[in-house]
Amino acid sequence: MATSFEYSNQARTYDLTRAASPSVLAPLRAALGDRPGSLVDVGGGTGNYARALADEGWRPVVLDRNAGMLGRAASKQLPVALGDASALPVADGSVDAVVFVSMLHHVPDWQAALAEARRVVRPGGVVAVMAFTREQVDVHWVLGYLPATLAHFAGLHQTRDELLGALPGAVEHPVLYEDVVDGSVAALCRRPELLLDPEVRAQTSLFEWAETHTPDELADGMARLEADLAAGVRPQDADPGRRAALGDASVLAWRRPT
Ligand SMILES: C[S@@+](CC[C@H](N)C(=O)[O-])C[C@H]1O[C@@H](n2cnc3c(N)ncnc32)[C@H](O)[C@@H]1O
Repeated sequence: MATSFEYSNQARTYDLTRAASPSVLAPLRAALGDRPGSLVDVGGGTGNYARALADEGWRPVVLDRNAGMLGRAASKQLPVALGDASALPVADGSVDAVVFVSMLHHVPDWQAALAEARRVVRPGGVVAVMAFTREQVDVHWVLGYLPATLAHFAGLHQTRDELLGALPGAVEHPVLYEDVVDGSVAALCRRPELLLDPEVRAQTSLFEWAETHTPDELADGMARLEADLAAGVRPQDADPGRRAALGDASVLAWRRPT
């Protein structure tokens, strides 16, 4: 199931809690390799990851379907392009890298988006996808407090095998959040008290969805979380073996054969 979440509201506030996380940048760098070149950041939003990569020598264009998000990216001295992930306005084999960070679950035809990325990278170029697999969504324990939201959210995410089917032979680099610099659901799960702040939660499409569609469940779930934390429960420490085995998220790196 796809979402129609479109980020116009979040464009004004996204950067209050979302910046380029070191926990994501390290596996992203490993995926991209150490020879910076041209890069399309698909669904690049306010440009936080593109800015960080530009500072390391990459030449990114931030492509997004939301003009408000792109306005923020442009203010960071980044070239921007309005467009859709499913039909990239980019010539065949013309760029060194394409990245998707925390966005593929928003694309109804995600297979088309990955096919487009594979089309536009040059031979030897790389497609890097940072995403939660459906298996990893289970590691995001807060969703246990929100059953209807979990059902919705899980349905938006591809399984690991589905992603690998679209990116054959891709190498997986796990993401384990050690910071909350980029306050995604997975990162916030490391700091449960932050999940109690509606302003912090609102910068994630998941909680925005819950606020709109399941507000009673959200209020009840957050009240239960608050009570559990007050009682000394540490949900972020539950099942560390499973978290270590699966990762909080993954960066998949596919290289176009030369
Ligand atoms: C969670 S934000 C991630 C932004 C950025 N990649 C980051 O990690 O900071 C998701 C972004 O994907 C964009 N987006 C969603 N669907 C899209 C599509 N079909 N084509 C292009 N951009 C899309 C949204 O407008 C939003 O800016």
